[in-house]
Amino acid sequence: PGGPLLDRYGRVHRDLRISLTDRCSLRCTYCMPAEGVPWLPGSQMLSTDELVRIARVAVGLGIEEIRLTGGEPLLRPDVVDVVRRLAALRGPNGAPEVSLTTNALRLPALAGELKDAGLARVNISLDTLDRERFTQLTRRDRLPQTLGGIAAADAVGLHPIKLNAVAMRGVNEDEVVALTRFAVDRGYQMRFIEQMPLDAGHTWDRTQMVTQAEILERLRGAFRLTEVGGRGSAPAELWVVDDGPATVGVIASVSSPFCGTCDRVRLTADGQVRSCLFSRTETDLRTLLREGADDDALGAAIRACLAGKKPGHDIDDPAFLQPDRPMSAIGG
Ligand code: GTP
Ligand code: 5AD
Ligand code: SF4
Repeated sequence: PGGPLLDRYGRVHRDLRISLTDRCSLRCTYCMPAEGVPWLPGSQMLSTDELVRIARVAVGLGIEEIRLTGGEPLLRPDVVDVVRRLAALRGPNGAPEVSLTTNALRLPALAGELKDAGLARVNISLDTLDRERFTQLTRRDRLPQTLGGIAAADAVGLHPIKLNAVAMRGVNEDEVVALTRFAVDRGYQMRFIEQMPLDAGHTWDRTQMVTQAEILERLRGAFRLTEVGGRGSAPAELWVVDDGPATVGVIASVSSPFCGTCDRVRLTADGQVRSCLFSRTETDLRTLLREGADDDALGAAIRACLAGKKPGHDIDDPAFLQPDRPMSAIGG
């Protein structure tokens, strides 16, 4: 015991991604079917006391950043309280930076309270700027609300604001330039994401994926891009757009994996620790905790989980198997 959260490959884990709920207010076609997926039963969900306790143990082991994800994390009724309690934690590396990845629909109502509770910043999913397309893609007519949520986050200073778009063949690949202009004009950072095999329907197909190379080709047709080095453990590679200061990013998890510098560990809404998005095993902290384990035992379980972390995701391995849980239940 003691020392940083290391795995067998020397990677130090400083980033904890916590899924607050597996539910969502949208039904993006690349994520969930129209009817949703079988939701986690309430009895299996971590209570807020349980979640904060696990986070406190993790912060005590050197976690410096906490990312709240979903499903849609703002659907958790007490999300403001969760943020306040997480932002108040202290560990050997000080207070964690608490941030959120959201679809923005509840931000008009919550942005101010979240900021006051100690939320540092937000990443917001925005796959298209076309209302009809948005409605088809998310199966909900909510583009105006999403844009309102982005503006609300901006107004209360949840900066820097990063916008995420999953690049999809024949769906939004033609909007790479328009989305980037939208972000640059407002001082946000646009990031394009290669689609990963994490959809509920298991329909992902490598040949259908829009690659980083294709995204950059489109961007270079409209902007002068200058590479920004030193990404550290961040998934996004960044380029300065024209004369700056705005940057645009690509998250090339598939064509250019960044597993070698991965510093992330995940906690699902039902209390399972995962060492990787693509793990095929989980460590059941919920049961341990409910059976009365002390903090040392919880910490040891987190360490043991990371000791089993694989060097990479193996998506290109012919024997690759998608994890059983979809993205919405793992937390992105
Ligand atoms: P920042 O701290 O703002 O850079 O956050 P982020 O880009 O790491 O997180 P965000 O929640 O915005 O996720 C953007 C995309 O990156 C999503 O598709 C995530 O699934 C993906 N992503 C985040 N972390 C990892 C990771 O560890 N591995 C892989 N393969 N993808 C990741
Ligand atoms: N591959 C890559 N990114 C995905 N996201 C959801 N599903 C996938 C996938 N299969 C994105 C969301 C959100 C972020 C957290 O993850 O669009 O922006
Ligand atoms: Fe880390 Fe797994 Fe993502 Fe690779 S795929 S960066 S190991 S979480």
